[in-house]
Formats: sequence, C-alpha cells, structure tokens
Amino acid sequence: MTDTQVQSAFRPTTSDEPLLEVKDLDVHFRLKNGGLARVVDGANLTIRRNEIIGIAGESGSGKTTLVEAILGINRFSNRQLGGQVLYHARNGEVMDLAALSPHQMARVRLSEIGYVPQGSMNSLSPTMRVADQIVDGMVSHGMSKSKARAKVPELLEKVGLDKRVMRLYPHELSGGMKQRVIIAIGISMEPSIIIADEPTTALDVNVQRRILATLMRLRDEMGVSIIMVSHDVAVHAELVDRLAIMYAGQVVETGGVRPMLKAPLHPYTKGLTDAIPTITATRQRIDGIRGVTPSPDNWPKGCRFHNRCQYAMPQCAEIPPQLVSLSDERVKALNQVETSTEDRMVSCHLYGSGADRD
Ligand SMILES: Nc1ncnc2c1ncn2[C@@H]1O[C@H](COP(=O)(O)OP(=O)(O)OP(=O)(O)O)[C@@H](O)[C@H]1O
Ligand SMILES: [Mg+2]
Repeated sequence: MTDTQVQSAFRPTTSDEPLLEVKDLDVHFRLKNGGLARVVDGANLTIRRNEIIGIAGESGSGKTTLVEAILGINRFSNRQLGGQVLYHARNGEVMDLAALSPHQMARVRLSEIGYVPQGSMNSLSPTMRVADQIVDGMVSHGMSKSKARAKVPELLEKVGLDKRVMRLYPHELSGGMKQRVIIAIGISMEPSIIIADEPTTALDVNVQRRILATLMRLRDEMGVSIIMVSHDVAVHAELVDRLAIMYAGQVVETGGVRPMLKAPLHPYTKGLTDAIPTITATRQRIDGIRGVTPSPDNWPKGCRFHNRCQYAMPQCAEIPPQLVSLSDERVKALNQVETSTEDRMVSCHLYGSGADRD
C-alpha cells in the first residue's frame, strides 16, 4: 500500500452539508453553421463541505467546460449558459454563481473558489519570479503587497515547497514544482473549494502520487473541498471520496468512490473501470468501450450511450433516462456492496427511470 492509499483508508468522514449544487446546468455553444453544440447539457452534481469529489469521463465529455461554467469563466462569445450553480457561502448566504456578473464572479474566484486550470503548469510567466506570481493574485483581490509577500513562504510550505523557491524563475523548476506553485496560487486567498483540472496528467507516476498526497493534506489542514477533474480513474481511486462520471455533457453516475469502482452500475462506468489494469489480475484483457464518442452538436436520441451499450433495450434509443437516487438497500441487492453506497445516483433505464423502484 502506498502512503496515499493508507491515508485514504483513514480519511475523515465528510460533512453531508452541500457547499455547491450544480442544477440542470447547460453550456451550449452557437456554431458558425447555425447549429448548437450542447457540450454540457442538464448536468447535476452536489459538492459537500470538506469532501474531495472526482469528475471522470472521456476526452470531450465536457469536464473542463463544466468547471469553467462553475467558475464563471467565459472564454467564448458564442457560449449560452442555463441552469444554476448554488454556492453556500461561509456566512450562510446561498448565491447562484451562474447569475452573477463577470465582475462579481472575478471576486468569487480565488477568494471562494481556487482554480488550477488544465495545462496551467506551463502558463507561469517565464520572466517573473515565483513569489511575484503568487503575490499578483492576492493583490488583485485587494490584499496589500506587503501582506501578500509575507504570506508567500507559508503558502510554499503548505504545498510542500522550500521557501527558497520564491526567488526562482519557472525554468528553474521541475514539472511537479511548477504544479505546486499553481496550487499555491489557487489556495492563496483561502478558498472554500479548489477546482483542479487534470493537475497530474503530464507528471510521472511518483510525482503524481506526491501531488495527490499534498492535495489530501490540504483538504485535512484547510478544511477545503476539492473538485478533482481527471480522465484517469486510477487517480480518482487514490484521492477522492465521491466520484461523478460524465458522459456526453451529463453526469451519468455518482457515489462513494470505493463502492462505485468495486461495483459500477452504469454500463459506461463499467467500461471505464474495466480499463484500469490491476496488479492482482494475472492476465486481464482490456476491452475498452466500443464505438466512438458522439458529437455535442448531434447527441443521440434517448440515452446518449445507447449505441455503445451492450445492455441497450428498445426504450434506450427513445427515452432519455434521468439521474435518480438508489437506496443503499437497492444498491447492495444489485451488486453485493457491503459498505454504505454514499448516495448512489445513476441515469440508466436498467435501474428504472423514475423514483427508486424495481
Ligand atoms: N467554444 C466552443 N465552441 C464549440 N464547441 C466547443 C467550444 N469549447 C469547447 N467545445 C467542445 O466541447 C467539447 C468538450 O470539451 P471539454 O474541454 O469540456 O472536454 P473535457 O472533458 O475537458 O476533455 P479533456 O479530457 O480532453 O480535457 C469538445 O468537443 C470541444 O470541442
Ligand atoms: Mg478538459
């Protein structure tokens, strides 16, 4: 067992209180040919206080688009937003982030939600010392330069870097160190949530493990919630408490990571988890998921996975399934999982499409 696996075996129980609720979120892009790319389309997800939630799914399933919408980042003028992103602030106020102005959202970012964007490791300014890059974010949120400077050594220590790193330029840092600097910027205003989009993807496995251990420690020390986006289910297995699987712009299954990986319900989750090679299996054939991912400007009718699904039934090609809760008893009966299923939700006709029924 690795250190991180030992830590995750003893991870604290997270609070049931919601911190962020993504409700029927749509992120559509108007295309030049007049069509509509429904990249995120009716996505639902709840993030609780002090938990690490993972978002997994194939490339193009809408993971980055979803977190950018949560953060109010609008990089494209052809974007249309629908639904709600309810944030339960520390003072008890509930704000719909999707309804805030760009100016209001700029204040929420960093102070309430820290962000480690996909590929950001390579976006540090090559001409600025590490300390100045960390200070800049805090100053832009109203902190005095001297106070921000004084915070840098503590922030570097929090992310596992020596304080001497503050004087260095990005080209003097390894990939893992650069990623830690980006995380230091993300936590600099002590947010309630950190969103990390593929933070370990370009790193080798040992560095990846150490970064995951750092994120876990930050959750314990700072009491933050973390949204971890990764296409790599093995990363989620090591880090997260709960997992959300995205397919074709929607969340198709959520639940506690261990019961979900041990006994996935949605056929797409089954396909994703089958693709993880295990050390214990002597010879395992990895079949992957047959067929190709559909395109956001032409999602299939009915269940978007039906034409790749080996369990598809006639109604799957016609009626879109809803994300519904299954009781612990139902999940245990379905797949003999002994542990609590931690609010399993699934969107698949195999499990009924309305309330929790057989
Ligand atoms: N401005 C836009 N106009 C049209 N389509 C877009 C736009 N921005 C993103 N898309 C499309 O949205 C889809 C989802 O992209 P997104 O980056 O959210 O996926 P992802 O799940 O994060 O993938 P990856 O694992 O590769 O990071 C892609 O098919 C992309 O082409
Ligand atoms: Mg992405």
